[in-house]
Amino acid sequence: MRVHSAIPLCAAVAGTAAALQQIPILSDDEQQRVLEPSSSSSSEEKPLVESSALQDLISGDRLEVRAKKLYEIAKLGEDEYNHPTRVIGSAGHAGTLSYIYETVLQLGDYYTIANQSFPAVSGNVFESRLVLGNEVSKSAAPMGLTPPTKNKQPVYGDLVLVDNEGCQLSDVPDSVKGNIAFIKRGTCPFGTKSEHAGQKGAVAAIVYNYEKDAVQGTLGTPSPNHVATFGLSGEEADPIIEKLQKKDRVDSIAYIDAEVNQILTTNIVAQTTAGDPGNCVMLGAHSDSVAEGPGINDDGSGTISLLEVATQLTKFNVSNCVRFAWWAGEEEGLLGSDYYVATLPEEENKKIRLFMDYDMMASPNFAYQIYNATNAANPTGSEELRNLYIDWYKDNKLNYTFIPFDGRSDYDGFIRNGIPGGGIATGAEGIKSKAEQAQFGGKAGDWYDPCYHQLCDDLSNVNYTSWVVNTKLIAHSVATYARSFKGFPERTKSVAPAAYHEEVKYHGSKLFI
Ligand SMILES: *[C@@H]1O[C@H](CO)[C@@H](O)[C@H](O)[C@H]1NC(C)=O
Ligand SMILES: *[C@@H]1O[C@H](CO)[C@@H](O)[C@H](O)[C@H]1NC(C)=O
Ligand SMILES: *[C@@H]1O[C@H](CO)[C@@H](O)[C@H](O)[C@H]1NC(C)=O
Ligand SMILES: *[C@@H]1O[C@H](CO)[C@@H](O)[C@H](O)[C@H]1NC(C)=O
Ligand SMILES: *[C@@H]1O[C@H](CO)[C@@H](O)[C@H](O)[C@H]1NC(C)=O
Ligand SMILES: [Zn+2]
Repeated sequence: MRVHSAIPLCAAVAGTAAALQQIPILSDDEQQRVLEPSSSSSSEEKPLVESSALQDLISGDRLEVRAKKLYEIAKLGEDEYNHPTRVIGSAGHAGTLSYIYETVLQLGDYYTIANQSFPAVSGNVFESRLVLGNEVSKSAAPMGLTPPTKNKQPVYGDLVLVDNEGCQLSDVPDSVKGNIAFIKRGTCPFGTKSEHAGQKGAVAAIVYNYEKDAVQGTLGTPSPNHVATFGLSGEEADPIIEKLQKKDRVDSIAYIDAEVNQILTTNIVAQTTAGDPGNCVMLGAHSDSVAEGPGINDDGSGTISLLEVATQLTKFNVSNCVRFAWWAGEEEGLLGSDYYVATLPEEENKKIRLFMDYDMMASPNFAYQIYNATNAANPTGSEELRNLYIDWYKDNKLNYTFIPFDGRSDYDGFIRNGIPGGGIATGAEGIKSKAEQAQFGGKAGDWYDPCYHQLCDDLSNVNYTSWVVNTKLIAHSVATYARSFKGFPERTKSVAPAAYHEEVKYHGSKLFI
């Protein structure tokens, strides 16, 4: 990966930023006027929601006003982080939550709003280094939520090859005590491997890939037995494994300065007061960004699309309940959505007919991506939702591609608990192909979002063409199911089909297995 190869493109985007800055920023009063919902009082009769009428109310100008507001909010994070951010625990995230809450509150009694607070772990790695033999590793990446090395100082030891994949405690030789465990990726989560190394007294652990690429992983839920853990590319690991198998010594220095903190953060959930509460259409976006930047595309775009659709929906009546969620802690590993689904009583689970995930709607080098959620591998109804997206792009003469439905965003908890789901996206750190350039424009060979998880995910990092298109599609999905679930499968089970577990390697943006 490494975006740094894409510097020329970043410069081009910066040019757009300068152009954008020439648009006069609206004063608060003007913003208020642009965004005022011309909502009529709730006692007045409203037409039943209809897709094209709701779609017609989506405008790029309104999305842009909200994006500027969100960027101002991200700047609240500057005091603590020295740059704009909306990461959980930051003033930028607190500001985002207030903004969402206030925006929905202004819509009056059309919605009931609930805050759901939950404990979240938040990890920061300040500095890290891994020396293997005489060389500083190029591919080593500290795992998300890793503890620091002892006293946040470098630790020294020999690399000790762990048997199999380190998924059993007995795979880890006693000789790792005071040394550094060298463990193959696969079969069980990284957190389990780190725990086993820690239990046997290793001072650090390295999980090397079975593919040549680096491993950007996370240890997941912290355990007192975790040790400081790096991911390593298969390419860098190969010559080391060869030496270790010949019983040659490879010494190593591992250093991670990091902290893992427990904080409280909040999901915000708004539900229409009208509509059958036993049959809800649910959709979500995540309110938080990574620490590195303001997250205007990821997922400021989805957050704002939902606010806009929620605002415009108030002009209509609904037959089925509509529930909007803004998740927190997505970037730390889908914490908010996991918590929400895990704490739903069974009878509440069954009321959710489907969940639609809207994460990254406006990538600058976008593709119109649909999660390939089939009924074979997912709860029944997922494929009907996938087909709704396909039909809409077709009807609008737009190209689309399928992407794996593999646990990278907040739909994961829903699928695991039997709730059909799906969604659309416009691309993160993947590379646009030549064929996709022909389909969508933009630039083959570059990331879909060249500022993914970076400081430059700012106001210049959204494409309003794709943002408007996808917000209209979100409006279509809401209007369709809010009007009727005719032809949409009834809910049955509350667990995911076995096939889903085989496809899933991610939990959020990071690998966990
Ligand atoms: C919405 O529809 C329901 C059911 O048809 C009806 O009882 C209610 O009065 C309608 N509300 C509005 C505001 O139109
Ligand atoms: C819910 O959270 C928002 C945002 O933090 C806050 O402004 C609001 O006061 C909270 N509401 C309640 C009822 O706790
Ligand atoms: C979508 O998923 C199904 C199986 O779940 C698979 O057969 C099909 O090839 C996938 N399509 C694409 C384009 O990835
Ligand atoms: C769809 O993709 C084809 C190439 O596969 C391209 O010729 C066509 O112009 C694209 N359509 C749109 C609306 O971009
Ligand atoms: C957004 O995408 C459209 C379609 O590819 C393109 O014409 C436009 O120039 C893009 N806008 C920006 C600001 O990059
Ligand atoms: Zn995201």
